[in-house]
Amino acid sequence: SSRPVKICSFQLRMDKKHCVKLSVQPSRALVDEKFIVLVQNAPPGFQMTIHSLHHSEDGHSWEAFGHYTADATGTVNVSQDHSVGGTYSGVEPMGLLWSLRPVPGSKSWLRFRKMNVETPMEVAISVYQGHQTVFVDQVQLASVVAERWYMAPGVRRIPVTESDLTATLFLPPGPGPFPGVLDLWGGGGQLVEYRSALLASHGFASLALDYLTAKITLKTGKMVENDYFETAYKFLQEHPQVSGSRIAMMGLSFGTAMTLKMAVYSEVMKLSCAVCISGSHVQPVNGSKAEKLLVSLQVGRLQCPLLLIVGEDDQNWAAPESAQDEMMEQAGNSHLLTLRSYPNAGHLIEPPYSPHTRARKKMNKKYDIIVVLWGGDTVAHSRAQEDAWRKTLAFLWENLYGRKNSAVTSMSHL
Ligand SMILES: *[C@@H]1O[C@H](CO)[C@@H](O)[C@H](O)[C@H]1NC(C)=O
Ligand SMILES: *[C@@H]1O[C@H](CO)[C@@H](O)[C@H](O)[C@H]1NC(C)=O
Repeated sequence: SSRPVKICSFQLRMDKKHCVKLSVQPSRALVDEKFIVLVQNAPPGFQMTIHSLHHSEDGHSWEAFGHYTADATGTVNVSQDHSVGGTYSGVEPMGLLWSLRPVPGSKSWLRFRKMNVETPMEVAISVYQGHQTVFVDQVQLASVVAERWYMAPGVRRIPVTESDLTATLFLPPGPGPFPGVLDLWGGGGQLVEYRSALLASHGFASLALDYLTAKITLKTGKMVENDYFETAYKFLQEHPQVSGSRIAMMGLSFGTAMTLKMAVYSEVMKLSCAVCISGSHVQPVNGSKAEKLLVSLQVGRLQCPLLLIVGEDDQNWAAPESAQDEMMEQAGNSHLLTLRSYPNAGHLIEPPYSPHTRARKKMNKKYDIIVVLWGGDTVAHSRAQEDAWRKTLAFLWENLYGRKNSAVTSMSHL
């Protein structure tokens, strides 16, 4: 239910019949749901800028905007009208989200990441007169706040403290049991929850697992061994609201290496399927991340269906997916492989409409500043994120529920 907000700006000397009306529908939605942004009641042919602004948890501001012209009825519908300029152009229903970027004057190299999934990402959508590019001190004609959620109503967030695991379990609404997903992120470490929260919003009991900066790693100073992942798997398997025979593992970047390793070598984990995003079948040996110790996994031994998602402009960790394909072909299990390869997409393939980050600056242990390049062209990358997420959900539904995802999942349907 959206609350249209009307503001008449007297500075514009608009008469009563030209109070610009703005609505966003739905104004409360999951992050992977589309919204419709509609401006009505503007003068015919009126030039306007539709702008989005988000203040992130870490104190930065992100914005996106498009330049539009009202039609003869004084309407702009962002879902079907062209933007002729701004942070995106053309008909881009979700451009106000995927083209979000730090406002001018921000620190460089920011990456958008929602850490508290119990609150929504709030985006203020506003209308300005004319085709603007600078928004400080400009008068808004109308403004609406859209809420974007990772957790659908009824999804439960359960911090896991047992068995030395650093993890959070997300359960879908209802009694279950639900199929499970073991969800791993990449080399940055930390317990990152938002993808698991979103998976639970789509019907999966999802365990976000930290394995690089986990409590046990900090305590021992050593990289976790296979048994850490097996403990996480058993935790899911034995949970009363998880269906123990239907568990998948999913990883991005370095998490892909862990996922493939466990899928190929673990005697304990019987995975129903695996999803690997922007990864590689090469593996660190003996707990070292040094590249010279990377060896090839025998992916030919893989026994479960594998969805491999690859950004072809991945500047971070070249993904030799053709090699993987070949190895599986040779071993006679290539029928298990589904490969989705996206031209001009980068490394960080996130849930749909997440802002695209090409590179990030970070410090290594010697406090040298290094730039990590993730690659991707923003438009192609955003298309890839949308498609890859739909394919991932469909793949998980097929292999864990044994059927197509017929449920339309949105905040309003739950
Ligand atoms: C806005 O455009 C979308 C996509 O074409 C359409 O479904 C929706 O009905 C339009 N809304 C209005 C009020 O025209
Ligand atoms: C890994 O460790 C084992 C046992 O300590 C050793 O035999 C092996 O050579 C090591 N492998 C590499 C690549 O260093």
